[in-house]
Amino acid sequence: MYKLFFRLVFKRMDPEQAHYAAFRWIRLAARIPVLRTFAAAALAPRYKELRTEALGLRMHGPFGLAAGFDKNAVAIDGMAMLGFDHIEIGTVTGEPQPGNPKKRLFRLVADRALINRMGFNNEGSAAVAARLAARNPVFRTTVGVNIGKTKVVPEAEAAADYVKSTERLAAHADYLVVNVSSPNTPGLRNLQATESLRPLLTAVREAADRTVTTRRVPLLVKIAPDLADEDVDAVADLAVELGLDGIIATNTTIAREGLGLKSGPELLGETGGLSGAPLKARSLEVLSRLYARVGDRITLVGVGGIENAEDAWQRILAGATLVQGYSAFIYEGPFYARAIHKGLAARLATSPYATLAEAVGAETRKKAAL
Ligand SMILES: Cc1cc2nc3c(=O)[nH]c(=O)nc-3n(C[C@H](O)[C@H](O)[C@H](O)COP(=O)(O)O)c2cc1C
Repeated sequence: MYKLFFRLVFKRMDPEQAHYAAFRWIRLAARIPVLRTFAAAALAPRYKELRTEALGLRMHGPFGLAAGFDKNAVAIDGMAMLGFDHIEIGTVTGEPQPGNPKKRLFRLVADRALINRMGFNNEGSAAVAARLAARNPVFRTTVGVNIGKTKVVPEAEAAADYVKSTERLAAHADYLVVNVSSPNTPGLRNLQATESLRPLLTAVREAADRTVTTRRVPLLVKIAPDLADEDVDAVADLAVELGLDGIIATNTTIAREGLGLKSGPELLGETGGLSGAPLKARSLEVLSRLYARVGDRITLVGVGGIENAEDAWQRILAGATLVQGYSAFIYEGPFYARAIHKGLAARLATSPYATLAEAVGAETRKKAAL
């Protein structure tokens, strides 16, 4: 049904307009009690065996919504209604900003992929913090807050901008993510170099501890798939050294070569981050590499090209405690999260593992033992 609807309606619309249209329907449905109860019962069934503990938090399951879909925290209940067990809002920047000029989102239907150069269009940390503070949740869900650098802030002053966002948002975050991996803010990804990343993560950690004294807000970093393997290792080592809680792997890629892309040059020539199916292999590779390096010391979140339950299961076996998706939701529609949870429960039942936690990293551990 959705695929037909996608072909007849969404595919003919500008991708960003289609996003806002879908967003409006989701938010509307979540505001109508009968509708949201019915939708949640159909789309967000709970599986006891998928209950997940990660980052000191209890979740209904391991699968959540990746950052970028709900940048301003306006649809948390709507997305929970659709079965996402954690919702990562943002990226939120210190100051509000419009993002890059349109057109800035492209569908690569033949590749089940997207290219975006949104450029962190968002209402800024003060407005998003106010919205989260006023929120009256309908569904109990985990809310991650992903923060990034305001475009006009020079790279040398990046830490102060992240600290500003942290001071405003940490109290409302079940976990906080430092995003240094989006390709659409000039210079942002340079912050992944350990010389820049160490002081940045230290400053954010201190700001979170200063602001929230009643609990320790888990802190994660989100990395690019385009890092060289040695740089992935360096981030992993730094994360352990700093006592970071998690690493999210990965953001979108700037690569176009070697991904077997079928779309034409008019699309592949668009600047921006590529996401969806073509990202699957590299995201999985980065995740396994991270797990081989950090083991169970740090929580890993797998994201990039997760289209179905098998993809999510492979990430768990590679080392992810949590998994996230974005692009495939556009192509698969409202049953996306439900299909993943259902398929994960089925896989776990026929696997040699008694619990999901036991399955985390099993494949990578096996390979390391060979
Ligand atoms: C349109 C779009 C906007 C995005 N915006 C953000 C963002 O603001 N912050 C972020 O950390 N990641 C952002 N992402 C990256 C996703 O969170 C995710 O890491 C990436 O798309 C890979 O997952 P996927 O293949 O399931 O889409 C965005 C992705 C898309 C497609």
